[in-house]
Amino acid sequence: MRVLSVVGARPQFVKLAPVAHAMADAGHDHVIVHTGQHYDANMSDVFFQDLGIPAPDVHLGVGSGSHGVQTGAMLSAMDAVLLEHRPDWVLVYGDTNSTIAGALSAVKLHLPLAHLEAGLRSYNRRMPEEHNRVLTDHAADLCLAPTEVALAHLRAEGLGDRSVVTGDVMTDVCLETARRVADSPAAAPAGLEPGSFVLSTIHRAENTDDPQRLRAIVEGLAALPHPVVLTAHPRLVAKAAEAGIPLEQGSVHPIAPLDYPAMVGAVSRARAVVTDSGGLQKEAFLLRTPCTTVRTETEWTETVDLGWNVLVQDVSTLTEVVDRPAPAPTDEAPYGEGRAAAATVAALEEHLPR
Ligand code: UD1
Repeated sequence: MRVLSVVGARPQFVKLAPVAHAMADAGHDHVIVHTGQHYDANMSDVFFQDLGIPAPDVHLGVGSGSHGVQTGAMLSAMDAVLLEHRPDWVLVYGDTNSTIAGALSAVKLHLPLAHLEAGLRSYNRRMPEEHNRVLTDHAADLCLAPTEVALAHLRAEGLGDRSVVTGDVMTDVCLETARRVADSPAAAPAGLEPGSFVLSTIHRAENTDDPQRLRAIVEGLAALPHPVVLTAHPRLVAKAAEAGIPLEQGSVHPIAPLDYPAMVGAVSRARAVVTDSGGLQKEAFLLRTPCTTVRTETEWTETVDLGWNVLVQDVSTLTEVVDRPAPAPTDEAPYGEGRAAAATVAALEEHLPR
């Protein structure tokens, strides 16, 4: 079986890692196409190195741009690549512009398409990720759902007969990395004592692109009564500079994006996480660090239902919410036990179109 994975953005490299290993273990041919959506070394190359992912076979080098320009550049470059490799499956990940570009290219060439992390929904149609994931699910021949909740969404949209639950591959890599970095002294950033600091990331357009909103968020973080390690995505740095908002203020210590092992180490040692990232909400839950999510909704509803994640839209309440009492301990594993990549490869084998 030949599978061609299309990736391009940081969270997709994390998801690719366990899948690439499982593909190699099963002896399948795996072609990796990097669209170039993320290109800074600390947003891309370090993930391939740290997570032992083979170098991409093809790099499209598209870089940044508006959604249409970026997606269109990927789409126009992809046809030749897919025709050259003629995979049994085109495998796309998550909900970025790289996902929708890979999906469209595959279906237009009549190549079987599988969508990993299918069925997530925020029901917020203003999010670019929501269009990307809905359209990709409906284009796909096989929807690989990470959870029962995601499967229920797919069924409700009439996609149940082409959907399977595999578990969540990010859980595989998060748990494995947590074991690896458990004893690493470098894991707490800037020499901060475990349990003494808040770890934060903010990068979504709805939080960064309106200067008033961004100012309120940074000031909310600055007022927290604990040091806040803010790992700053390039979009955040650019938008804050444009709006004249200093990121280094009050409790906030901005740092460059962390590599994956350092991020897992930092999350597990933080007293709390404050984020608008999807993946980080889940990683915080897996590592049992209470999370506060600066959004009106989340795709990972299990983290909220189990009490480990609280959504906050009004950032003036941030201190109160971050310092809430600790959630009840839980053994629930809604994202699987860390074997989702093997289940993904098995599903691709089983559903291989003849
Ligand atoms: C993308 C995904 C988002 C995901 C996020 C993870 C889409 C629609 N969004 O958002 O779902 O959560 O990746 O990080 O695909 N930039 C750099 N260097 C880089 C990459 C980006 O400087 O290596 C800057 C550029 O100014 C760029 C901006 O960041 O315009 C945004 O990058 P882009 O890939 O368009 O979207 P993300 O915000 O990263």
